Amino acid sequence: MRRSIEIFDTTLRDGEQSPGFSMSLGQKLRVGRVLAEMHVDVLEAGFPAASPGDFDAVRALAEEIEGPRIAALCRTIPRDIEHAARALEPAANARIHTFIATSPIHRREKLCMDRDEVIRHAIDAVVMARGACDDVEFSAEDGFRTERDFLAEILQAVIEAGANTVNIPDTVGYATPSEMYDLYRWLIRTVPGIENVTVSTHCHDDLGLAVANSLAAVEAGATQIECALNGIGERAGNCALEEVVMALRTRADRYQVETNVETRRLTAGSHLLAAVTGNFVPRNKAIVGENAFAHEAGIHQHGMLASSNTYEIMQPEDVGLKQSQLILGKHSGKHAVIERAREMGLELAEDEIEEVMKRFKDLADRKKRVFDSDLEAIITGSQTGTVGPWSLNWLSVVSRINGESEPTASLTLAHEDGTTCTHTGEGDGPVDAMVHALEQVTDTRIKVLSLAMRSISLGEDAQGEASMRATVNGVELSGHGLSTDIVAACAEALLEIVNRAVRYAAQAQQSDAA
Ligand code: KIV
Ligand code: ZN
Repeated sequence: MRRSIEIFDTTLRDGEQSPGFSMSLGQKLRVGRVLAEMHVDVLEAGFPAASPGDFDAVRALAEEIEGPRIAALCRTIPRDIEHAARALEPAANARIHTFIATSPIHRREKLCMDRDEVIRHAIDAVVMARGACDDVEFSAEDGFRTERDFLAEILQAVIEAGANTVNIPDTVGYATPSEMYDLYRWLIRTVPGIENVTVSTHCHDDLGLAVANSLAAVEAGATQIECALNGIGERAGNCALEEVVMALRTRADRYQVETNVETRRLTAGSHLLAAVTGNFVPRNKAIVGENAFAHEAGIHQHGMLASSNTYEIMQPEDVGLKQSQLILGKHSGKHAVIERAREMGLELAEDEIEEVMKRFKDLADRKKRVFDSDLEAIITGSQTGTVGPWSLNWLSVVSRINGESEPTASLTLAHEDGTTCTHTGEGDGPVDAMVHALEQVTDTRIKVLSLAMRSISLGEDAQGEASMRATVNGVELSGHGLSTDIVAACAEALLEIVNRAVRYAAQAQQSDAA
């Protein structure tokens, strides 16, 4: 009989806490819904004691998301545990995930604690957490670099204190697969009581080995994998959910395990996350990259025509990809668009349909055909949860090479209070000019940190996607724009950033006043 492996998703915690991947509450909810539809077993929603925003997000996810168990991270500090317990109150099924570093370097340099103190903190935290929640996970941070005897001692102690899951993270991504296998095998054979709890693995990708190490832990007997969509997470990221799940499924002959993940949601989930964070997935990324199921070389095409098994080890449908294209254009109606979106794994909520149809019709007027990728871009673009207060009414950009004067950008923005404002900015290039015009209209200081542009659909009139990171009044944010005109896409991305900054500043003012 096959063993069942629990998938613990940490996209919204380890993933979200890493630079460039921060999400608003609305965006976290949207990603959380996709993860629930994907049937992950545990959804780590955040670190409630880290900030009021994190607390609110965990509470909102605990209130809304049905299906997965909702987990909240906390240090072994009573205040952290209280925050986690309160944020999780609305969840139907909750887990408190408490951690303390165990490796010699972390004990000495970071915690300034000896082994006994670390064990005492761990036991006290697990006992307190169990008082608030019947499901508690303990993580030995930097567990992989911890002395084996101490690791076994602390795991035994937390199991006796009531931990239901023990996790041994490779926090710094240092392990190799054979070492990982040895360690898990040894722990599972050595630690008294470990057979009664879930044994988890949490691998970072600093050496590109996170998926391989997680699979090695499973081969040695681990029963839970901690992972994140698109492999996002601290530094080089975490084990990629889509990769580890498809490896277990495709090579079930080898691993003899199964997961509950609905793999047909993987592509939609990956694309949504990329759109809301403004971080593209590389074309050649396993499972969800654009090229993962594309064949160009003549020999490969020949083989594929004969039998797809010649060059494909997975069916594109299994990860939610459709090869066929329904032709959508300006004569298509609402039902066709909704149906096509559903087929692509993108369920539209009632209140999103009008906005999606408006964008669809605008695009269909400018394009002969609307491809799947166009439709997906329209939908994920409209699902990024970004609204006002400013919207772009008009834009005119002049680019100059060897000209007498600087490139200029003139724009008119409408504010939700009904006013409009027009300004012209000059700059080194059109984007710089747009930044200066926007700064004047919105009274902000903008510094662009990075800008990536690409074409995301087929044909001459393809849609361009602009993804930008910038600081606004010192706060770093990301934005995302889509248009058949790449300069307009940049303007949309910039405006999304400014709107976020204005909304965050208003929220901060409100909570200061409260
Ligand atoms: O990498 C790590 O050690 C962690 C723990 C907090 C689980 O993310
Ligand atoms: Zn981690």
